[in-house]
Amino acid sequence: MVEFKQFIKSILLMVRLPFLRLFSSTFFLSAFFYSIFSSAFWREFNSVLIGRYLYLKRLHEKSENMFLLRRNVHRLEKGLLMRPRRSVFGLKYIEELINVYEGLVSKDIENDLSIKNQLIWAHDVLEKYFSVVGEHTIISKCRDQFEKIDIAYESDEKKVPFNLITKGSPVQYDEFFKLTKNRRSVRWFLPKPVPRKMIDQAILAAVQSPSSCNRLPYEFRVIDDEKMVKEVSTIPMGTKGFADNIPVIIAVVGHLDAFFNERDRHLIYIDASLASMAMVLSFETMGLSTCCLNWPDIPKREKSIKKVLNLERKNRVIMLLAVGWADPEGKVAYSEKKPLDLIRKYN
Ligand SMILES: Cc1cc2nc3c(=O)[nH]c(=O)nc-3n(C[C@H](O)[C@H](O)[C@H](O)COP(=O)(O)O)c2cc1C
Repeated sequence: MVEFKQFIKSILLMVRLPFLRLFSSTFFLSAFFYSIFSSAFWREFNSVLIGRYLYLKRLHEKSENMFLLRRNVHRLEKGLLMRPRRSVFGLKYIEELINVYEGLVSKDIENDLSIKNQLIWAHDVLEKYFSVVGEHTIISKCRDQFEKIDIAYESDEKKVPFNLITKGSPVQYDEFFKLTKNRRSVRWFLPKPVPRKMIDQAILAAVQSPSSCNRLPYEFRVIDDEKMVKEVSTIPMGTKGFADNIPVIIAVVGHLDAFFNERDRHLIYIDASLASMAMVLSFETMGLSTCCLNWPDIPKREKSIKKVLNLERKNRVIMLLAVGWADPEGKVAYSEKKPLDLIRKYN
């Protein structure tokens, strides 16, 4: 029976190959193929487009848009630290930034520290910008607008570009290499709870990772409720055989409304993956183990996870991460890595 199935598979492959060769030969034919013969990208199209729509709608309505604020404050920071610094810079986006800043400050932020911290950063960078930038009508107008926006806070430290005083790394390479080498994907965990404090610490380290324009277009959805873990752990395909003993699952979720243009759609995957790796290594430092879990784009599974996690269409799940205390009785794969010569090329 298995042999017969393999035979049918090889025949189907043979028939499919010339078809795929033809449709992959030009952009137009590929687009035609994915419009007519396959709906594999439709969900992504929809999420990217709805994300873009939400971003531009907020821009048009001058309403709350933390991603726009973060990106433009970041652009000002880069202008401030440029060598040599240009006399006049930021003209293209300063109005956009002031408007979104004003909109966010006018909201009731007193009780929302997470927003307030970002606005304090925006305030300090803007204040620095207006103190050094040269004269221009747009800048004068924005400066006047800025000076009328009242954001009450007290802080000794200004969140503006600074000189990084390198005191040497707190971790030496040999130790770090050992940490990376000791990490292995663990699929067998002890039935022992993972303290939330440790999870938060790992996420705090993750968020220090680089992110394009400092937007951080992702969030970590931590599932540690036993019933919910059971529900989520069986949704991805890669947990067959070990789903039952996973104590905590973290869903890494991207936000496509962070971008004004589809050219940046990959950043949810890049930024979230950089952060996830830092999270994985942080867990290792605490004695916890992890296993990344693939999130394939399969309609039925997409529907299930969206329902459990209450996700919106602008969201894409990037991957899941199983976290727990490794069971010393359980084995891990040897997972031979590629040698340096195969994976690295200079120039
Ligand atoms: C994006 C990603 C998805 C993965 N998906 C799964 C999965 O669904 N199931 C699983 O058991 N392991 C999964 N893994 C773990 C890999 O199999 C593992 O990282 C690889 O074999 C190397 O082994 P190591 O992590 O122990 O070094 C995934 C890893 C990554 C990075």
